[in-house]
Amino acid sequence: MDDARLANLRQWFFDYCRTFYTENEEESRNIRLKEEHTARVCAAMEILADSVALSPADRRLAAVIALFHDVGRFEQYRRYRTFKDSTSVNHAALGARVLAEEGVLAGLPEEERRLITSSVGLHNVFRVPAGLGERHRLFLRLIRDADKLDIWRVFIEFYGQPAGERASAVSLGFPDIPECTPAVVATLLRGEMVDLATLRTLNDFKLLQLSWVFDLNFPRSRQMVRELGYVERLADTIPRSPDVDRAIGVVRDALFRVDPATF
Ligand SMILES: [Fe+2]
Repeated sequence: MDDARLANLRQWFFDYCRTFYTENEEESRNIRLKEEHTARVCAAMEILADSVALSPADRRLAAVIALFHDVGRFEQYRRYRTFKDSTSVNHAALGARVLAEEGVLAGLPEEERRLITSSVGLHNVFRVPAGLGERHRLFLRLIRDADKLDIWRVFIEFYGQPAGERASAVSLGFPDIPECTPAVVATLLRGEMVDLATLRTLNDFKLLQLSWVFDLNFPRSRQMVRELGYVERLADTIPRSPDVDRAIGVVRDALFRVDPATF
């Protein structure tokens, strides 16, 4: 894939997004949120790609994966008016289907098409599946980190906004009550990722987001989270108890642990 093709794909995505804006302000805010998220994930991907010294060709591939990672969000929202996969559709699988149905990747080499489609389709899985080829694993780990880095920004902005200005679909409908579920806190205390299915409240959702620190793949990602202060900023919005304090301590330890010299 050359630079001209990458530019075409960016134009396609821009035009595709335009077809989802409506007269309805709330709906358009949710669409805009995903369009902006995509732009920022692309920016984070460039930083990560630099940090692992990808070749120019692989950087373009990574850029396309970032551009399309949430392409399924638009159709998901149009059909179901939610970003909650559990009550609608797996947006990653839908994204892979959109790419195929729209013929977006036609003409690209088979290996590139496979890597892009599969990375889009798997970007949201709970854990990177075993048995992927090394290149596939690399791109999947990159998009998962780039995605998380911007989701933290989206949520921190969301929690800081007055209710009337929030993009309504961000909180996935969890009730904003001052409670953390003990089982969710216990998962963090074990240094494990929280499963979306165990959540009851918006504060649980914040704990889940904190647990993503355990799943970051690259030293540069942890560095960005430290520099941007995401853990502190998220933690500041959670009602504290001794257990919650300890859980946040576990997250902080993972973030500040010494990175090995190699990946
Ligand atoms: Fe996604």
